[in-house]
Amino acid sequence: MLSTILKNHSYINGDWTDAATGKRFSVINPATGEQLAELPDCHEQEFDHAINSAHSAFPDWAGRTAKERADVLKRWYALVQENKQAIAELMTRESGKTLDDSLAEVAYGSGFIEWFAEEARRVYGDVIPAHRASTKIIVTREPVGVCAVITPWNFPLAMITRKCAAALAAGCTVVVKPTAATPLTALALAELGERAGIPSGVFNVVTTTDSKLAGKMLTEDARIRKVTFTGSTGVGKVLMQQSASTVKNISLELGGNAPFIVFEDADLEAAVAGAMASKYRNSGQTCICANRFLVHSSVVERFAARLAEETAKLRVGNGLEEGVRQGPLIDEHAVAKVDELVQDAIDKGATLLTGGARSSAGPCFYQPTVLKDVRPDMHVISEEIFGPVAPIMQFDTEAEAIELANDTPFGLAAYFYSRDVGRVWRVAQGLEYGMIGINEGAISTEVAPFGGVKESGIGREGSKYGIEEYTEMKYLCMGGLA
Ligand code: SIN
Repeated sequence: MLSTILKNHSYINGDWTDAATGKRFSVINPATGEQLAELPDCHEQEFDHAINSAHSAFPDWAGRTAKERADVLKRWYALVQENKQAIAELMTRESGKTLDDSLAEVAYGSGFIEWFAEEARRVYGDVIPAHRASTKIIVTREPVGVCAVITPWNFPLAMITRKCAAALAAGCTVVVKPTAATPLTALALAELGERAGIPSGVFNVVTTTDSKLAGKMLTEDARIRKVTFTGSTGVGKVLMQQSASTVKNISLELGGNAPFIVFEDADLEAAVAGAMASKYRNSGQTCICANRFLVHSSVVERFAARLAEETAKLRVGNGLEEGVRQGPLIDEHAVAKVDELVQDAIDKGATLLTGGARSSAGPCFYQPTVLKDVRPDMHVISEEIFGPVAPIMQFDTEAEAIELANDTPFGLAAYFYSRDVGRVWRVAQGLEYGMIGINEGAISTEVAPFGGVKESGIGREGSKYGIEEYTEMKYLCMGGLA
């Protein structure tokens, strides 16, 4: 099964394509160091070809009925479902995530295809009571046009489907630039998309190691009308600046620094379960992972002891092995960064409860770690960890918890546990975040709007709002009707 979805070319205008230079790059399994594939290292020529193809395919795709587009998306969804085991194994091999996490991502990511197949038929316009008796005012929604889709390695499938399914449903065509670390899942999606009947040029995947060149071409080309990106805030800012040259529509899903607050009235066991789900999903490599735990001083000892106890049980290893709960980080740089954050906290006085070092499982592995007595001046609090490390700080009042939680330029996800209904509303209102888990550590679903405020991004993905991001409003003023 795997061999039919394992591709070793880019996918442009319905063709499996090489780079004109003949250059290729390797895709490596971070758990084992094994080479999985060699892919074309594309440059200007291939990006130009892909943009041109998406541009030429746009009028026909946009001109189809919503039902025709929805039918193609439904077939794509069914094929992803049929191949879910093979896709999950491929994803585990290229990203390192455990097979359970990969299967969960296939379910989550394919959910966006199904959802937007359904939403395609609900892109409604509006009729507005006019300002003159002889006039009618009508608002229609039209597809934005060609979209550039730039995606990260931590969710090799879901970040593509969350954007592309909405774009395709709205009538847009896309050029996808997956990260060089995990392009194989993207190409598997292209293969299944072709089998589902996505026409040539509508869905293109260009592989490259030259992210700077790709970003520049995709933001500065006037044929592209929208850029959508998931990744770091630093890169998001560059893409935003570059997009200014052609005043592109942009959606950005950027970094986070999620606080996870445990109040004194919380159900502590539920909070520990939520913390485990949020912190260790994908080995701590998600933008919405709990990044810092803020725990009331009266329950901090109990919470920290229970979190450390559960964390110490997590088995680390190759994600394909039965019983493994934490895979490798994406590469050795990621491990070095996580280790630096942990050592900085320990040097400044944090107490290590479990973990705290690289794992013997291999060069890309880090031990799941819990730190207590952490303070705001430690880097582990101000920076996005992107690894399996849970730093715990304490607070004394609700106002202090909210202030600490908001003391960051980021505003993606936040979590809190409390059973006091008045507090639930106060804190939910006080937190400056786009998404809030209340007595809940797992908030991702295709039916809800995903996105952040402040430096965590612009726009929302998924849900009924997600498709609007791929449409433009057109106002028709029909006069002389009297
Ligand atoms: C992300 O980490 O960027 C996405 C996480 C999610 O969709 O749950």
